[in-house]
Amino acid sequence: MNFQLNSLSDTHTLAGLIAEVIVPNFVITLNGDLGAGKTTLVREILQAMGVTGSIKSPTFTYVEPYHLDYIDIFHFDLYRFSSADEWLDMGFDEYFINPHLCFIEWAEKANGLIPEMDWDITLSINNEIHSCRITAHTNKGQECLKSLMKAGVSLLN
Ligand SMILES: Nc1ncnc2c1ncn2[C@@H]1O[C@H](COP(=O)(O)OP(=O)(O)OP(=O)(O)O)[C@@H](O)[C@H]1O
Ligand SMILES: [Mg+2]
Repeated sequence: MNFQLNSLSDTHTLAGLIAEVIVPNFVITLNGDLGAGKTTLVREILQAMGVTGSIKSPTFTYVEPYHLDYIDIFHFDLYRFSSADEWLDMGFDEYFINPHLCFIEWAEKANGLIPEMDWDITLSINNEIHSCRITAHTNKGQECLKSLMKAGVSLLN
């Protein structure tokens, strides 16, 4: 499913819709070139979910945690991993036990070790237009994507 994001305002709108359709225990991987808009989209989703305060890119910390009443949210950026084993060394498997929502930039750096992946979001820029492709990999992901498609008709292309 492809969404065209002509401006940051479209990203804001899509993020608000994503925040409404995703459910606890959901894992989203984010792909796309440097600067394609991965962190911006995650930041907007977190704000729409009620996270307050600064939302930093996890590039240098690998993960930034956020805690809401009903869910733990983790935003990973694995760009600096030198090998996939670091995923286990850092104990990241344990982040998937309690009710969680995980966003993972550069997930391919942990090749094969990430437990469940419900959506992949690929961000790209063509002729200066940002776009966002969402692919579901689980039944739960498929159900949430259907809801998103209904809600986000105006952004579909
Ligand atoms: N839909 C959009 N329209 C216009 N500009 C955008 C859009 N989405 C993101 N940007 C801008 O693109 C820039 C880079 O975004 P961002 O840092 O989110 O990229 P990234 O994919 O996380 O990069 P990295 O791989 O370095 O982590 C930011 O300045 C952001 O404001
Ligand atoms: Mg980023």
